[in-house]
Amino acid sequence: MAVLTLGIESSCDETACAVIEDGRIVRASMIASQADYHSQYGGVVPELASRMHVEAIVPCLSEAMEKAGISYDEIDAVCVTKGPGLVGALLVGVSAAKALCEVKGLPLVGVNHMAGHIAANYLSDSSWEPPFLCLVVSGGHSEILLVKDYADMEYICSTRDDAAGEAFDKIARVIGLGYPGGPKMDKESQSGNPHAYSFPTPKIADSLDFSFSGIKTAALNTINQIRQQGGEINVPDFAASYQDAICSVLIDRLDQAIKLTGMKKICLAGGVSANSCLRKKITELADKRKCSICIPKMAYCTDNAAMIASAGYYDFRKGIRDGMDMNAYPSLELGV
Ligand code: KG4
Ligand code: ZN
Repeated sequence: MAVLTLGIESSCDETACAVIEDGRIVRASMIASQADYHSQYGGVVPELASRMHVEAIVPCLSEAMEKAGISYDEIDAVCVTKGPGLVGALLVGVSAAKALCEVKGLPLVGVNHMAGHIAANYLSDSSWEPPFLCLVVSGGHSEILLVKDYADMEYICSTRDDAAGEAFDKIARVIGLGYPGGPKMDKESQSGNPHAYSFPTPKIADSLDFSFSGIKTAALNTINQIRQQGGEINVPDFAASYQDAICSVLIDRLDQAIKLTGMKKICLAGGVSANSCLRKKITELADKRKCSICIPKMAYCTDNAAMIASAGYYDFRKGIRDGMDMNAYPSLELGV
């Protein structure tokens, strides 16, 4: 019999609900995005995000159930993002999941949001299985993980300062692209020259860790210098060059991680995995190192609940359950 998991995601500015069959088949995936609303403030306003989740969560759940064509009695487990994320936002999803479990007598599975991003690969390639290396890049995270099994992961390296998504968003704002900056920078860069501006791509001695604060500061200095001299930034060229510098660092560390671990299966996860330059560079790296590769489908790169229902399915299958005392954990680390 097929196992159906209901996923609920509300860690940032997306209210999402999904129904997944056997961890892989998407029966429904609904997303109510608040991004347009927050863009007028130049970023996510946590208090407003929480309130908007409260308004969206019940309609979103009903739509997902309707689209999947099932009743709550047919659900095997409710999987919800328990962290990391904005505490008030997370609490909305966690409370809805707990209420559902209490009323319908269903098992509750709390899911790590980053494990969810990794599971986007299982939704994108039905035969993709651990072990593999995963470059996880989102608005709050940049790390390379060795995923040994569905719930067994080891950190290879992570960022010492900003996350890649954050580095995109900050500079995008300064060059007038607004929020969310990553996708806008990606779009601008399509017509730009990636060699027009140059940025330092620092390496940390004896470590694969990333650092993006140097690239970001160099970008800010370049912008200030040009503006002080009365000049103007060529936005497409600047976007293409900055994007290329960040993606080059990410891919260089992934290449080193391949050498370090001998692992020949590589994939991407997190919002920045939607970036066209990163997708191109990882494809080239896989070719060069003769690795098999999975790139998440665009629909599952940024926050969604299908990935949460998929990750939750593998925890559920392992017998992992949470109690009604489960909380929201804003700084939750991956269980490694
Ligand atoms: O995973 P995600 O949706 O939320 C977090 O868990 O943080 O990632 C959001 C991040 C933002 O920083 C956004 O600018 C970035 O992913 N992003 C992109 C692209 N699409 C989303 N960055 C670069 N290029 C893109 N196409
Ligand atoms: Zn995310």
